[in-house]
Amino acid sequence: MSSFINQIFNEDAITGLQRIPDGSIDLILTDPPYGLGKDYGNDSDKQEAAEYLAWTERWIDAALPKLKPTGSLYIFLTWRYSPEIFVMLKQRMTMINEIIWDRRVPSMGGSTRSFTSVHDTIGLFVKSKSYYFDLDSVRIPYDAETKKARSRSIFVGAKWLELGYNPKDLWSVSRIHKEDPERVEHPTQKPLEIIERMVMASCPEGGVVLDPFMGSGTTAVAARRCGRQFVGFELNPDYCAIIDARLQSAEAELQTLNNQPTEPVRTKPVSKTTSTRKKSTATKKPTSKAATKAAPKTTALKTRSVRAKKLAVALSD
Ligand SMILES: C[S@@+](CC[C@H](N)C(=O)[O-])C[C@H]1O[C@@H](n2cnc3c(N)ncnc32)[C@H](O)[C@@H]1O
Repeated sequence: MSSFINQIFNEDAITGLQRIPDGSIDLILTDPPYGLGKDYGNDSDKQEAAEYLAWTERWIDAALPKLKPTGSLYIFLTWRYSPEIFVMLKQRMTMINEIIWDRRVPSMGGSTRSFTSVHDTIGLFVKSKSYYFDLDSVRIPYDAETKKARSRSIFVGAKWLELGYNPKDLWSVSRIHKEDPERVEHPTQKPLEIIERMVMASCPEGGVVLDPFMGSGTTAVAARRCGRQFVGFELNPDYCAIIDARLQSAEAELQTLNNQPTEPVRTKPVSKTTSTRKKSTATKKPTSKAATKAAPKTTALKTRSVRAKKLAVALSD
């Protein structure tokens, strides 16, 4: 196995990217410092505008050659520098989407001299027209009521009606709250739901996702949960320890799921004198699907369809 696969390196991204062979990455999914002065235990987010943009151009030029011709890039930004950085990327790639992540920030006062900013701007760029994109894996199923309302004959058999609709480019997903079980000690941790949607849509199963700015490791954890591989960099050693712990617990969850029986387990033969129905339900062992359904938010996902279903529920707007 290549020495960079499924590794997080505690080093500067621009230096570390040299470890990765050109044309070996399916997806770059990254959430770089925003240039807003956040504290990541280093000065990486405290550069002046010109310095920040010049540095951004340097890491972009170090990272893009790593993509396969079918590869894509998602980048999280804010309104402050997305115009400049989108122009930089448009000179090198084709822009496919601007996705607005509405962080569902509650209304509580906020700015008095501007409108309170409550969204991230995410760019989706691709290297060529033959980019990988699997919409079916992230479609959002219709609930029974909506499906019934669209039962006119012209809709019957329509793929979008059967498999669900395109998630569109406005994603309303709550940011990670202090009480969220997913939460770790990182100031800008992203929700797994969002990152998993990107991974499933834009990286084939078994493919490699690169995140040069891992933070708490959300990209790596999402990749593992979705059956993809990862590689990444993070400057802060404390965050690297958090990534290790998150990956270990993701592995343990995967292990637990993989140990579940995959075939439906037959109910035990029931004596004719007892109530068949009641007894069979009580003695039925859980199937892996049932276990997945009952699992907490962070439980690893075993099959693609189960994953898609979970994401659809989590991300439906
Ligand atoms: C916006 S955060 C990423 C958050 C991440 N998406 C998550 O969900 O936890 C950016 C991270 O990049 C790291 N970083 C900044 N400059 C870096 C560099 N030159 N090389 C590697 N990591 C860097 C910071 O320490 C910070 O943790």
